[in-house]
Order: sequence, then C-alpha cells, then structure tokens
Amino acid sequence: MESLISLVNKLQRACTALGDHGEESALPTLWDSLPAIAVVGGQSSGKSSVLESIVGKDFLPRGSGIVTRRPLVLQLHKIDGEREYAEFMHLPRKRFTDFALVRKEISDETDRETGRTRQISPVPIHLSIYSPNVVNLTLIDLPGLTKVAVEGQPDSIVADIENMVRSYIEKPNCIILAISPANQDLATSDAIKISREVDPKGERTFGVLTKIDLMDKGTDAVDILEGKSYRLQYPWIGVVNRSQADINKNVDMIAARRRERDYFASTPEYKHLAHRMGSEHLGKVLSKHLEQVIKSRIPGIQSLISKTIAELDGELSRLGKPIAADAGGKLYAIMEICRIFDQIYKEHLDGVRPGGEKV
Ligand code: GDP
Ligand code: NA
Ligand code: MG
Repeated sequence: MESLISLVNKLQRACTALGDHGEESALPTLWDSLPAIAVVGGQSSGKSSVLESIVGKDFLPRGSGIVTRRPLVLQLHKIDGEREYAEFMHLPRKRFTDFALVRKEISDETDRETGRTRQISPVPIHLSIYSPNVVNLTLIDLPGLTKVAVEGQPDSIVADIENMVRSYIEKPNCIILAISPANQDLATSDAIKISREVDPKGERTFGVLTKIDLMDKGTDAVDILEGKSYRLQYPWIGVVNRSQADINKNVDMIAARRRERDYFASTPEYKHLAHRMGSEHLGKVLSKHLEQVIKSRIPGIQSLISKTIAELDGELSRLGKPIAADAGGKLYAIMEICRIFDQIYKEHLDGVRPGGEKV
C-alpha cells in the first residue's frame, strides 16, 4: 500500500509540473481525484506547528500574527537511506539539506509574490521532502482564517482568505485537519465552521485540538476530546505543540515530542486518553485513513487514468512529431507515470474481491 501512496504522490507532482490545474483535458480531473490533507483554522491556531510535527522536522515559518501568506503544498516522500533533503518546484535541481534554509526560502518566496506586506496570495508554493522518517503524504498549509482586516490589508481579505481556503477543502478528495485552539471557545472555532460547511457529515474532517497546555487553570479539554462537546465522525486528537518561548529557545522536535508524550501520559485528566493523543498518533491515523481512501477510490481513479491515457495519446498524435521537446517530454513523462499507475492498480485489484476486502 505504501507504494500506492507513493505513486499518488508522483502523479500529483507530474500533474503540477505540467501546470494543468484548471481548464484543459482530463488532467485536472485526475489531480482533483487524488487525496491530500489540508490544515484549516483561525490565525495562530497552530496549523503550521501541527504540520511540522506530523513531518517531524523544523522547516515551516511559524509565529504569532500572519505568518503563512501563501498556500504551501507539501509532498512527503519516504526514501531508503539516511539523507534527508527538500526540493522546491520553483528551484528545480536545488537540494536543500539544511531545513533552516527551507524555512527561509518559504518566507523569501512568499515575499517575492506578495512583497514584505501582510497581503496574502493564492499562488501555492510547492515543496517536496524526501526522508526515511516520513510517511508518504501530501499536506497543504493554508493562511489562517481571520475576522477583520489589519493595517496593510485590503478590506476584502477576510472573504479572500475564506474563499482560498474553501477552494482547497471543498474538493471531495481533501482530508481536512480542522485546527481549534483549546484556549478559545469551540463554538467560535473558524475551523469547525468552515469544515462543516464543506463536509457536513464529517466524513473527511479530523478535529485537532491544539494549545491544551495553555488552557485556564481549573479547566480541561476532556469533554471535547471524548466527543461530548462537539461530536465528529472521527475522534478528536489533542496535541501540544511548541510554544513561542520554545521556538525562541530552539527546542528541537524530538524534545518537543517527548514532552508532548509525557504531558498526556502524566496529566491525570488525560491519562486515559494518552494512547490516542499527540502528533505521532495523528500522523499514523492520517496515513491509515489515506490508504483507505485510496483503496476505496481505486476503481474510479483507474478509469480516470485510462481516460487520461487515451486523451494524452490523442493529444500527442494531434501535435504530431516533432513537437516542442519540452511539452512533448512532459506529456510522455506523465503518460509513462499513468501507465505504471494503471498497471499497479490492476495488479492490486487482482488481489481484491469485488466487495473490496483484500484476499
Ligand atoms: P498558525 O498561524 O495557525 O500556522 O499557527 P502557528 O503554528 O504559527 O502557531 C502560532 C503560535 O502559537 C506560535 O507562537 C506557536 O508557538 C504557538 N503554538 C501553537 N500550538 C501550540 C501549543 O499546542 N501550545 C503552545 N503553548 N503554543 C502553541
Ligand atoms: Na501564525
Ligand atoms: Mg501558519
């Protein structure tokens, strides 16, 4: 199954490389049918922190205020070996091994599009991370929902961000991580509000409660985490990310995870829930869910791929040979990926009974 997720990643990248997100042919439909995971929530609710801890690396700009100002489409690729590196689509062939420089490049690339302002842009940044320590996932970090424009922002910003966020999470293939901070009233959660709008039955929404360590003394999140305050289809997952003071002190990921584990295991209120709390658990739950989604979509995606192959074949013969080396090369590459994909799906299907269970 790991290989199936990895192929989905490749296909997604190929679609993006081809630059076809919108209008033409079957490719955009193919892109739309592949699963991805997006984080939504209010500003500074902890979205970027949650993504970082799923990845297990420090590489995202975080902080109070409007830090994430462009969507970041992040693909995790599990590789053998020990060396970890990152690549940006806008900087092909440049390998980043220093993740502090990855963070800097995300900031710089954000500024290139928006200037050093508080403006936001819907143009995504594409980043791939190759590591032996990740599961194959596509994650999308999004600017935070806000209620008012601040100095330097147009009045339209509230609606602009909401529309941008909605454009990602309304796709049926999008798994939503709805991030709500535990130190604010859940009834006012922007994450819950917008995810309920696009996924009323909660079939693809995971509720994540952050900042549990910052709750007022004498209060706790047990009712929420047990699903008594607001019921979701999937159980709530509580996390404790690094605080701003931790970030300033450069507390590393491993120490942060250990502390998070200790926090749930040793706090009397949460002890009984500890086995299903924390960032590591969240990563596992998501990976498992993604596999199930892919499995259930196999027949649909497969027919879409056959259709894509047919359309690309048609396109190639219409273009004739010789065609522009660049465009032709990309088309051939994506077709090749589709063919491999198609083959793997067929092989996989051979092992699956009509009911869907594996033999
Ligand atoms: P985003 O704006 O939603 O992407 O939020 P960030 O991940 O940038 O986090 C905003 C601020 O909240 C940062 O200063 C984080 O250190 C802090 N923060 C996020 N999650 C937690 C948490 O679980 N506990 C504590 N104490 N601070 C957190
Ligand atoms: Na922030
Ligand atoms: Mg952020």
